[in-house]
Amino acid sequence: MEIIISFLQKIAPFLLAHGFVGIIAFCVRLYMQGGKFKKQTDETGKVAIVTGGNTGLGKETAMELARRGATVYLACRNKEKGEKAQLEIIKATGNSNVFARLCDLSSMESIREFVEDFKKEQNKLHILINNAGVFWEPRRVTKEGFETHLGVNHIGHFLLTHLLLDVLKKSAPSRIVVVASKAHERGQIIVEDINSEEFYDEGVAYCQSKLANILFARELAKQLEGSGVTVNSLNPGIADTEIARNMIFFQTKFAQTLLRPLLWAMMKTPKNGAQTTLYVALDPELENISGQYFSDCKLAPVSPAALDDQMAKWLWAKTEKWAGIGL
Ligand SMILES: NC(=O)c1ccc[n+]([C@@H]2O[C@H](COP(=O)([O-])OP(=O)(O)OC[C@H]3O[C@@H](n4cnc5c(N)ncnc54)[C@H](OP(=O)(O)O)[C@@H]3O)[C@@H](O)[C@H]2O)c1
Ligand SMILES: *[C@@H]1O[C@H](CO)[C@@H](O)[C@H](O)[C@H]1NC(C)=O
Repeated sequence: MEIIISFLQKIAPFLLAHGFVGIIAFCVRLYMQGGKFKKQTDETGKVAIVTGGNTGLGKETAMELARRGATVYLACRNKEKGEKAQLEIIKATGNSNVFARLCDLSSMESIREFVEDFKKEQNKLHILINNAGVFWEPRRVTKEGFETHLGVNHIGHFLLTHLLLDVLKKSAPSRIVVVASKAHERGQIIVEDINSEEFYDEGVAYCQSKLANILFARELAKQLEGSGVTVNSLNPGIADTEIARNMIFFQTKFAQTLLRPLLWAMMKTPKNGAQTTLYVALDPELENISGQYFSDCKLAPVSPAALDDQMAKWLWAKTEKWAGIGL
């Protein structure tokens, strides 16, 4: 008995300390989950497209749209992954109006084909969610030769949005939602080397592409004024998705064992990461709000570079050329 008590006395501080760390971690986690979109809405009869809807934030967004009755198109670069998510969403929501379609944002041909086929199936589009994204890629180029962060995150979505504008306008009130990132704050449009040919850095290229997302959303909002189509951008927060798949160190066993508990406390679940996207896409109060940026389900400031209207115009004109759009 005495032995047991003295043993307990010895390990008590240890247990307490660990319990304490656990409780702190738990509280930090609760705090980090961020704002939630709790309003009930009925999206029956609405048509939505979610790019990168097969995993991560895109899948959670598509899941909730389907749960609220919308017809949802998952625009994915991989057919099998898309169909797997489609079945999962149908099973979980009981909504059979969920479709997986091929749309590789690193190929203009694939984007054009996706839009052509979509328009054969639907003559309405109420919600376009530009969610797909690449992060921390080694230097790669898209089919047309653009650096992949710029090419997929910005140029691909630019073309996709452009091709869908007519049907969005026809379906007004409708919304375009651009999933950007807080990382835009570290971004800069590198005018003299936007395609990272002279110098390449994964982080610089990603941040540039996310800044481009916001410049695009703000400029498009101006052009769409009065059309009944709004466009807003957002920061989802740090969420535990497949986003870090290219960070080799992060994937090592060492990092996973050591960092996992910390990350568990610090990161949002994919479901919570999708809340701001859902808020911007669905909240009736945002019906007439356009050209704004949100984080944690509320308005948020953008970096000075994201407010540079002249740069937005320059980028717009360039991107039109790159995307082969003759307006
Ligand atoms: N998670 C975060 O902490 C965080 C923070 C800030 C911003 N974001 C932004 O949130 C968005 C969603 O990211 P996530 O966290 O959900 O990452 P994720 O789990 O890696 O999902 C990314 C999605 O984009 C798709 N995608 C990649 N390249 C594509 C292409 N060429 N064509 C079509 N789809 C493509 C992926 O398809 P595959 O599955 O086939 O690869 C996947 O469906 C991104 O725009 C990201 O920049 C995320
Ligand atoms: C949006 O604008 C329309 C037309 O001016 C108005 O009827 C509607 O109440 C506005 N919605 C909100 C949420 O302010």
